[in-house]
Amino acid sequence: MCGIIGVTGRADALEMLLDGLDRLEYRGYDSAGVALSTEAGTWRARSAGSRSLADLRKLAEAAPPAAAGIGHTRWATHGHPTEANAHPHLDCTGSIALVHNGIVENAAAIATRLVAGGHRLTSETDSEVLVHLVEAHLGELLGDPTGSGAAGTGSSRGVPRGSEPDTAHGPAPGSSVLGEAVRRALVEVRGSFAVVVAWSGDPTRLVATRRVSPLVLGTAAGGAVMVASDVPALLGRAERFWTLDDGQVAELVPGGIVVTDVAGAPAQARPLEVAWNLEQARKGGFPDFMSKEIAEQPQAVADTLAGRLTADGTVGLDEIRVSPDELRQVDKVVLVACGSSYHAALVAKFAIEHWARVPVDVDIASEFRYRDPILDPRTLVVGVSQSGETVDTLQAVRHGRDLGARTLVVCNVVDSSMAREADGVLYTRAGPEIGVAATKTHLAQLAALQVLALHLAQVRGRLDTERAGRLLAGLADLPSLVARAVDRAGAVAEVAQRYRSVRDVFFIGRHVGYPVAMEGALKLKEISYVRAEAYPAGELKHGPIALIEPDALVVAVATRTPLWEKLLANVEEVRSRGAQVVLVANDGDEETARLAQAVLWVPRCEALLSPLVDVVPLQQFAYAVARANGRDVDRPRNLAKTVTVE
Ligand code: G6P
Repeated sequence: MCGIIGVTGRADALEMLLDGLDRLEYRGYDSAGVALSTEAGTWRARSAGSRSLADLRKLAEAAPPAAAGIGHTRWATHGHPTEANAHPHLDCTGSIALVHNGIVENAAAIATRLVAGGHRLTSETDSEVLVHLVEAHLGELLGDPTGSGAAGTGSSRGVPRGSEPDTAHGPAPGSSVLGEAVRRALVEVRGSFAVVVAWSGDPTRLVATRRVSPLVLGTAAGGAVMVASDVPALLGRAERFWTLDDGQVAELVPGGIVVTDVAGAPAQARPLEVAWNLEQARKGGFPDFMSKEIAEQPQAVADTLAGRLTADGTVGLDEIRVSPDELRQVDKVVLVACGSSYHAALVAKFAIEHWARVPVDVDIASEFRYRDPILDPRTLVVGVSQSGETVDTLQAVRHGRDLGARTLVVCNVVDSSMAREADGVLYTRAGPEIGVAATKTHLAQLAALQVLALHLAQVRGRLDTERAGRLLAGLADLPSLVARAVDRAGAVAEVAQRYRSVRDVFFIGRHVGYPVAMEGALKLKEISYVRAEAYPAGELKHGPIALIEPDALVVAVATRTPLWEKLLANVEEVRSRGAQVVLVANDGDEETARLAQAVLWVPRCEALLSPLVDVVPLQQFAYAVARANGRDVDRPRNLAKTVTVE
């Protein structure tokens, strides 16, 4: 949520910032801005609105040459999506610029104090207090009697480039006065943050730090050093990647990074292995990322399964850092997740309970820790998260850990916050996903969770070899079955065209078809803004059926899962009240098809694996309706891909 970027040591710093913001836009697009540090001062441009990045590019034509700068793309939390609230924020002198991702929980109290001390705050954001706090501490360190730093300009404070701080304060060698000011400022801040600060008094230095919110550092030949919220922003630019632990402060100067802990003692950034490449973060001839990512689903599933299904009929999951012995101790699994990841978790409950015979709870992560869940060392809490950064899921996993449970995360981003904090991690291997609406990562999660379910079943002795062999063969077939579903985008688009003007859609399903219906409804509402609700089909008669009027659209997941016949009876109930019915049905299943005005055909597979195939036409349906209505499928309004606020 919000994307931040910084670069130093590159003659084309501005171009890299703008390009990086393009690639970070999926984290928010309410406004965009950049600030460049030069000897002559700090130059800033900001723009708000749906064309903010394009407008920013125009403004940037007037920018002075600079080798260092910072940029931001915003998802509004505190304050309207206006230019005044856009980052970077400047201090009173206009010499310090700051970008922030996260929430400053005690912003109001800090702001009151700052204003009383003479600072002028000009935005409604929580972030702005940070730059004034840095200003105040920098002022103190530089001997500014006001302590606010507001006297004089940064560039005329007489601080030579890269000057060492007052040694009485004891920061690490190579750390600067700006680094010390940032460290001191952030001690006062409650909440989560990733922050990058630039100052024209030391114009080639950037100071970056994080607590909870993600931040990746990169270095390249020629001395370029960069930092961003996410790896995709740095692909093709950085050759080596690094991450910071909570509270560490990194000072980026051309050719190097100085890292300290929160007290100023020397520390180390951690190297990060990045397997993604630049092509994966580009549209590659597709009109948008969403269609590219839907097309990549067979590969995402194949890559996620690769090496995990062994020839001897067992699942190989040695990598997950939770041993078979520990898994044998588990007497309850709790899956916590948000959004599409939550739907993947709902499917996993069926698989884990059926195959491994362990009770499973599935919780919306934002609710989990507030309901006082009963957890103990025999509970396995599994966080499911594409990004590994969703703060609600992260906090839910932490809550599990704090109550003594074993924790595991299923996530797509290597070394994400969740991956680092949990006892174990099972990576999906979908590559970078840029479209805000999850598609390929959802399928990869489904595949990974099925593998986990089989692994649990095997280590607990719940699966005989023959049945395991059959299920593993079914899993191995999934990439080709998903590919067959993906190839039918044209046929799905024809159906979608007929219903392009629909305003209300009911998605229904039973058994694993219900979470599939939930995901279909979520996809439709988030990218096309059509009201879409999912119901377990058997529940219709307890209320929702009152909403069915002639010509209401009902989309039912009617593939041959165990409750197929009962589902058809529910479809009859809405048909008899005049609903239009679109069914997801298995190839050749005319018995099902006869109930529908239109059919989205999918190949048939083992019921517990079927969500991977059955959800594909629902993604395509949502995509086609959204496109037919001129929606921006990659950047749906009000949404962000990675939600790092509660
Ligand atoms: C946001 C995204 C969804 C995603 C959800 C959970 O709402 O728009 O696509 O499913 O966050 O994200 P996570 O990274 O935890 O899977």
